[in-house]
Amino acid sequence: MQKDTIKTNKFTSVLLDVKNEALAQIVDASSIKELEELKIAYLGRNGKLTNLIKNIQNLPDNEKRQAGTLINESKNTVLDALSTQKNTYKETARDWFNASIPGEKPSVGHLHLVTQAIREITETFEKIGFVKVRYPEVEWDWYAFEALNIPENHPARDDWETFFIDTPTHPKNGSMVLTPHTSNGQVREMLRVKKPPIRMLNIAKNYRRQSDVSHYPMFHQFEGLVVDEGISITHLKGTLDYFARNFFGEDRVTRLRPHHFQFTEPSFEVDISCGVCKGKGCKLCKEGWLELGGAGMVHPTVLRNGKIDPNKYTGFAFGWGVERTYMMKAGLDIGDIRLLYSTDLKFLKQF
Ligand code: PHE
Repeated sequence: MQKDTIKTNKFTSVLLDVKNEALAQIVDASSIKELEELKIAYLGRNGKLTNLIKNIQNLPDNEKRQAGTLINESKNTVLDALSTQKNTYKETARDWFNASIPGEKPSVGHLHLVTQAIREITETFEKIGFVKVRYPEVEWDWYAFEALNIPENHPARDDWETFFIDTPTHPKNGSMVLTPHTSNGQVREMLRVKKPPIRMLNIAKNYRRQSDVSHYPMFHQFEGLVVDEGISITHLKGTLDYFARNFFGEDRVTRLRPHHFQFTEPSFEVDISCGVCKGKGCKLCKEGWLELGGAGMVHPTVLRNGKIDPNKYTGFAFGWGVERTYMMKAGLDIGDIRLLYSTDLKFLKQF
């Protein structure tokens, strides 16, 4: 014990000597260069203070802590003195400004994956004359369901696991909901434009009561709506193939499978040929096709609700998930979709 104390005292006095010596030299230094040299002499890899730090491990355990605190204090005092002294030489900044040293790059962030997706999808459709719009995300039942030929209590409503807002119901528009799909934009756009042609691209947030590895309660859809005289399924198919080629790649095509939606007749599910096997069937796609989302010819009732004469005009619509479509393009297999909306920078920086 006695021996240890002596050892520690000795350490303390050596430390004080080294510190005072350093401070004296710093005050005497007459250029930035000299200060840099002093910094190396005391705090460099083989500096006097650095070597003392290395010595701490030779002290008995119960003394290490105190010695550590002391040496940290000394180190900070020396660093402070160095920077104070450096400031006195500020006017001779040329001394230490070395233009040949590479600069430190500021770290630059980037757009969120979903924002990138929305921009790319928008660009692709704008090239063929679609107009991007946005409609309310807190919406009346009428635009989200009724106007789309889905009356209250209709079983089809179960497909959209809807969040309802706790407000008094509107005599005509019904309850308030969080938009469960972008199709609410269809009738809104018809009422806004009044007279076709309509070429709408509605990209918005959607909300459904679901959360698991492949679902998040908030996600995005993009919805296309085209209404004009003489619009037929051919136009729908042409537009979808255009999107497949331009967004996914030259050799990709789409196919339509019969389906049912209340607001389109006929209705389809749209598939895109698999990028890996080009439609032949492989491990990824099973039978050569990957499912994109819903589409169809606008139901006459929906046109009528938008104050458009179904005897004069026809139209098509499609609505797909932004996240899903982008993952498919990028070949990304994100194990848990909820990561997209986490604040985990390690995950987000990858894209
Ligand atoms: N709104 C439908 C959905 O959310 C998709 C769809 C849009 C289908 C337009 C047909 C036409 O699943």
